Amino acid sequence: MRTRTIGNLDVSAVGLGVMGFSHGYGPSVGDDEALDHIRKAYELGCAFFDTAEGYGAGHNEELLGRALAPIRDQVVIATKFFLPGPLSPDELHRQIRQHLEASLTRLGTDHVELYYQHRVPNSIPVEDVASVMGELITEGKIGGWGQSQSTADQIRRAHAVTPLTAVQSEYSMMERMFEAEVIPACGELGIGFMPFSPLGAGFLSGKYTADQSYTGDDVRRVITRFDPENVRANQPLLDLLAAYAEAKSATPAQISLAWMLHKFDFLVPIPGSRKLECIEENLGAAEIDLTDDEFNRIEAELDSITIHGNRTDADIAKLQNMD
Ligand SMILES: NC(=O)c1ccc[n+]([C@@H]2O[C@H](COP(=O)([O-])OP(=O)(O)OC[C@H]3O[C@@H](n4cnc5c(N)ncnc54)[C@H](OP(=O)(O)O)[C@@H]3O)[C@@H](O)[C@H]2O)c1
Repeated sequence: MRTRTIGNLDVSAVGLGVMGFSHGYGPSVGDDEALDHIRKAYELGCAFFDTAEGYGAGHNEELLGRALAPIRDQVVIATKFFLPGPLSPDELHRQIRQHLEASLTRLGTDHVELYYQHRVPNSIPVEDVASVMGELITEGKIGGWGQSQSTADQIRRAHAVTPLTAVQSEYSMMERMFEAEVIPACGELGIGFMPFSPLGAGFLSGKYTADQSYTGDDVRRVITRFDPENVRANQPLLDLLAAYAEAKSATPAQISLAWMLHKFDFLVPIPGSRKLECIEENLGAAEIDLTDDEFNRIEAELDSITIHGNRTDADIAKLQNMD
């Protein structure tokens, strides 16, 4: 697997988001199967794993910690904390440490390479968070830090206090809003960009049809991209991917990941799957090279395609009130 250097981290060019084993996509496989898949991902060359304290109320961190225990020194672990605020600087300091210690215990490790603020609320000054992160880096508890779904302004202000290693936000052929300000800011400041939902919650694999149904905590019950009329209306995007997949002896999911890897050399996607064959497929995208001409043609065609539907935190919050 090719690698990329993000700040002080050397990571595989494609990582693995393990969230789905505990949270967000309906009933998962059992823990034994999940442990097996995570270890096989490592054997396939993946050395960068993404989790969060919030995925399955700690289950996901415990699972990842168990899976990676024998190879802890060979991998990069990213996890995340969330605090809604408002909090005084002292209380913020205390609570971030408390959250980190709990994550480290669940992960069975004494440090993580990357620690993200999962959402960046205006009620907590980014400078205060950055200052705590600087202390944790100095103490060796975290290798670097990042923000998720932050604005360019929040990134710049935080970076001025303690340089960010990475920003993790939604980015795919279906959601390109961060191309306007956030990704350019990351490029300018030397911050890595780690797209979440890089496959548009699976849509870009081309394996989901308009009549598919979703259960439990599966976000596709509420994100409007999966409304049947939007699935049908977004077919031109799948047609574009299918054409390049055929020409490159690849799959649509691989082309969509190869496109973003070509576009930004400081980007590392973290697709997630509970199926070994899909994990292998997604990791394989690191080896697909688009020529500049292919990339430019895809860009031009993308610009001419209208995307229907969205994925918002407000939509996802609606799941809490559904059976
Ligand atoms: N910072 C944040 O707020 C945030 C938010 C969301 C996610 N994340 C992180 O980002 C990671 C990835 O995001 P994501 O899981 O939302 O989206 P994603 O990687 O775009 O898509 C995941 C979904 O697509 C399916 N899938 C994946 N690869 C596939 C393939 N090759 N063929 C067919 N289906 C495929 C998976 O189903 P199966 O499991 O059934 O294969 C799963 O339902 C997560 O694991 C998590 O670590 C972070």
